[in-house]
Amino acid sequence: MTTKRIIFLLRLVTLILLCLPVLNLAWRWYGDDLGARPVTEATHITGDWAVVFLLISLALTPARSVFEWMPLTQIRRRIGVAAALYAVLHFVIYVADQKWNLIVVALEIVKRFYLTIGFAALLVLVALAITSTNDWQKRLKRNWKRLHWLVYPAAILAIVHFFIQSKANVGEATVAAGLFAWLMIWRFLPVKLRTSYLGLVLLAVGATIAALVFELAWYKFVNHVDPMRILRADINPALAPRATLKVLLAGAAVIVLVGVRRCAIMLKRRWTDRYIRKTIPTS
Ligand code: HEM
Repeated sequence: MTTKRIIFLLRLVTLILLCLPVLNLAWRWYGDDLGARPVTEATHITGDWAVVFLLISLALTPARSVFEWMPLTQIRRRIGVAAALYAVLHFVIYVADQKWNLIVVALEIVKRFYLTIGFAALLVLVALAITSTNDWQKRLKRNWKRLHWLVYPAAILAIVHFFIQSKANVGEATVAAGLFAWLMIWRFLPVKLRTSYLGLVLLAVGATIAALVFELAWYKFVNHVDPMRILRADINPALAPRATLKVLLAGAAVIVLVGVRRCAIMLKRRWTDRYIRKTIPTS
């Protein structure tokens, strides 16, 4: 298959996958299948997907590098735009929940810290989605990179918003924070280490430790829960898989997938070499 065709298919599959959560939400809404509080459920689902797509869009540069697969960069823009669109939908559902009273919405955003930072993240994501086109890239020149660097503070704000609204159970927010830590540590690693197995092991361990630190700190300083209780829960097999273990498993999954990909590349190279030796006569 030609690279052009691979990119076309990859873009098409990505577009379909990006639409699935919203179609599923619409279907469940239509079938009255969103539980006793459908609007709250819809707010949670769209918020979760906004964070998921945001993290995936940030993961594509490391993924291209560790999996040595260039076409991955071709879907980065649309996943980033999808993250912004899901965040907008999340906001619109919230506004609908407030009976479209924009004054109440504005007052709530000013009054509640978790909404203030959610709003700031939303503004940044929308600005980045609008300026993500080639045209804007040309217009803004070097400033485009500077502007799009804001995706990192926006992701931090979105994750803090996630933590605050999670209240007593910050499990999912901890997983998001751990995965974000993986992405940040990757950026700060020396280039050679980033793609080596040692680097990937350090990333898995580092992201897990970061997730554990976020979790313990959150429970200690916000919920006033003894960190030892959380640690005991984290190592209790009956409660597995807890957030930190999920982050460790995600890091380990990357190592396994990289191994599989490298084996596939090696086998393909060997097969091509043998094919060339057999079919092209040496003089
Ligand atoms: C003005 C902007 C925003 C508003 C008004 C808003 C509002 C809300 C509300 C009301 C909740 C549910 C709180 C509860 O049930 O007690 C929520 C949860 C959440 N929001 Fe936002 N949000 C905004 C921006 C964002 C952005 C930009 C993101 C991500 C990129 C995001 C991600 C989430 C997530 C992940 C949750 C938790 C979902 C879950 O618990 O499963 N929000 N937000």
